[in-house]
Amino acid sequence: MFQPKTIIEPFRVKVVEPLPRRTREQRAEALVAAQWNLFSVPAREVTIDLMTDSGTSAMSQEQWAAVFRADESYAGANSFFRFRDAVQELTNMPHVIPVHQGRAAERILFSVVGGEGQVIPANTHFDTTRANVEASGAEALDLVIEEGRCPSTEHPFKGNMDVAALQKLLAERSEQVPMVVLTVTNNSGGGQPVSLANMRAVREICDQYQVPLFLDCARFAENAWLIHLREEGQQQRSPKAIAQEMFRLAHGTWMSAKKDAFGNIGGFLALHDDALASQCRNILILTEGFPTYGGLAGRDLEALAVGLEEVLHEDYLQYRIQSTHYVWQHLDAAGVPLLRPAGGHAVYLDARAFLPHVPVAELPGQTVSIALFLEGGVRACEIGTVMFGHTRDDGLQEPGPMDLVRLAIPRRVYTQSHMDYVIEVVRYVFERRQHLGGLRILNEPPALRHFTCGFEPLGWDPLALT
Ligand code: F0G
Repeated sequence: MFQPKTIIEPFRVKVVEPLPRRTREQRAEALVAAQWNLFSVPAREVTIDLMTDSGTSAMSQEQWAAVFRADESYAGANSFFRFRDAVQELTNMPHVIPVHQGRAAERILFSVVGGEGQVIPANTHFDTTRANVEASGAEALDLVIEEGRCPSTEHPFKGNMDVAALQKLLAERSEQVPMVVLTVTNNSGGGQPVSLANMRAVREICDQYQVPLFLDCARFAENAWLIHLREEGQQQRSPKAIAQEMFRLAHGTWMSAKKDAFGNIGGFLALHDDALASQCRNILILTEGFPTYGGLAGRDLEALAVGLEEVLHEDYLQYRIQSTHYVWQHLDAAGVPLLRPAGGHAVYLDARAFLPHVPVAELPGQTVSIALFLEGGVRACEIGTVMFGHTRDDGLQEPGPMDLVRLAIPRRVYTQSHMDYVIEVVRYVFERRQHLGGLRILNEPPALRHFTCGFEPLGWDPLALT
């Protein structure tokens, strides 16, 4: 039987959007105006935008059709019930609270359960999660397994939580821990999955100390598919059945539906606990909206309801994971240092190994991101010392756990030739890496500094690279 090797996109194109083409001079000008921060560069300057897979998906014809069916009633809209049913089909949780995006769920949840003296352990908190935990006064603790902290180590489930460390924490301070969080997939740790076995073990410890387990499930379908591919005994199960089991193991979950629900905006909080749900709804009404729309339009709820079903289609997930792997494999073959193995939604360059001559305190990940944009118009995202480090009292940089440059792949948006172009750009910069130098941070805000700070090159001219 014919066994094709080519991964074909499981869709054809119906609407096209022009791709911005700019010269190196135009990009140089944009970078200087942005003080070398890619978050401050207008999208019109970017040719291939891999800054994030969040809110950047292409919607399907079924999603657009659903948009037209939307009911925009303030209270009890039909669209809410379709959305609620889609979330319950997966999570089996009675309370479904829509929010405008993931961090709204985080703010609501941690303003209820967080606060001074509390500790929230996770495999790894994403930046907004950590910021919302800390903004409540609580401590955000990352307890990912040792393999998950080292980019070059091979392990099928690098998103797993260190269960011994969790056990120790709960044995010592369980009264201070209002919940345990598993981020699936583990975005800050390289888009790596958490295994079912690990989730079950974490749940068991949670039960022992009567602490609820929550999933930050932005990429639950990619996690389910990676379990299907890699975990013993899971090959015969559908990604939907695996996802349902993941949610059965949790007491609650929140989702940025801008990822695995193919939404351009949206999210939800789903809970079993009646009292917690009621507290969350009260805050929701105060700042997000009535509980049947939570800051979203009916048309958003409709598109998400369809997206939550579509994302579990096997031909989509197979294409999704294989096409990320395609980029990873070509870069690996070219000797580019990468976080191993490929993540679900992104390929992560290991900037410390990419630029060994640039000290970590001089932000090698930011330098690599700048070079990819300047040379090829490819916009990536630093997930390293800029995002997770901080400036100490003595003015020096406290490093982040790793220095990664994430090439996040928007869902159903770019084709294989776009990815071939990206591979070429990364290789071009890698071959010239010895010309790259370090940076220092300017104008640092008190939280989430990576979004708005500026940078200054330290004794080299990024524009003179080639
Ligand atoms: N949790 C995870 C695991 C995330 O990746 C994100 C967002 C959030 C929560 C917050 O959701 O953006 O809807 O408020 N991640 C985006 C990214 C921004 O680029 O990875 P949000």
